[in-house]
Amino acid sequence: MCSRPDGIVIAIDGPSGAGKSTIARLLAERLGYIQIDTGAMYRAAAFLLAAAGVNLGDLAAVENFCRNLDIRLESVSGRQLVRANGKDVTAQIRTPEMSLLTSRVSALKPVREALLKSQQQMGRRGGVVLEGRDIGTVVFPDAEMKFYLSASVEERARRRCDELTSKGEPVTIEETIAGVVERDRQDSERDLAPLRQADDAIPVDSSRLSIEEVLAKMFVMCRNKIDALEPSL
Ligand code: DC
Repeated sequence: MCSRPDGIVIAIDGPSGAGKSTIARLLAERLGYIQIDTGAMYRAAAFLLAAAGVNLGDLAAVENFCRNLDIRLESVSGRQLVRANGKDVTAQIRTPEMSLLTSRVSALKPVREALLKSQQQMGRRGGVVLEGRDIGTVVFPDAEMKFYLSASVEERARRRCDELTSKGEPVTIEETIAGVVERDRQDSERDLAPLRQADDAIPVDSSRLSIEEVLAKMFVMCRNKIDALEPSL
């Protein structure tokens, strides 16, 4: 039996550009679950800190600022909106500069503590697909289903480059590879909640698989787990 009222907790961790957001969204849709993009929450925190001009080297100031953080993920007509202290920041948090800044901001203890609490609160009833870097290791170490989704650096950079180019942002593959490598380094070498595969996570390498193939593989495993734990659902 699953101990949570709304279903199981599905954790998807992995490096940037492995396809976590797309897979988490489609998986949540298929299961009738809620998607929680924790990276978007860190991005929103970085945006707010930068907009307020908070000195990131001054941890007391960061902590003080984080006391009043209000970051929400809202679903509007099938689109996920990110609202930070009341403001819709969905588009602004997706630039390459914001990606690098977020990687720095997400290494700060007061930021992680504030967001950890709200993520645990958002997911505690179950029926959720959470994606990030530390979901299976820190946020929900007791998640019923854990995946570690990865892909080669070149493939991840190619996907990111295509995504940004299609939005009209002029980027080269070389600078995108450099950005991916730098973010991997920052995310996995930090002291707090570094990017790491949980011992009980199922590894999925998406380098040579289509989105549909990855989704099909993960969906079957989740469905089996849900059926085993909640025979009536
Ligand atoms: O998944 P993303 O690229 O939108 O994440 C943005 C940054 O936030 C990334 O550098 C890692 C960080 N992050 C984190 O530290 N912990 C999470 N659970 C999710 C994201």
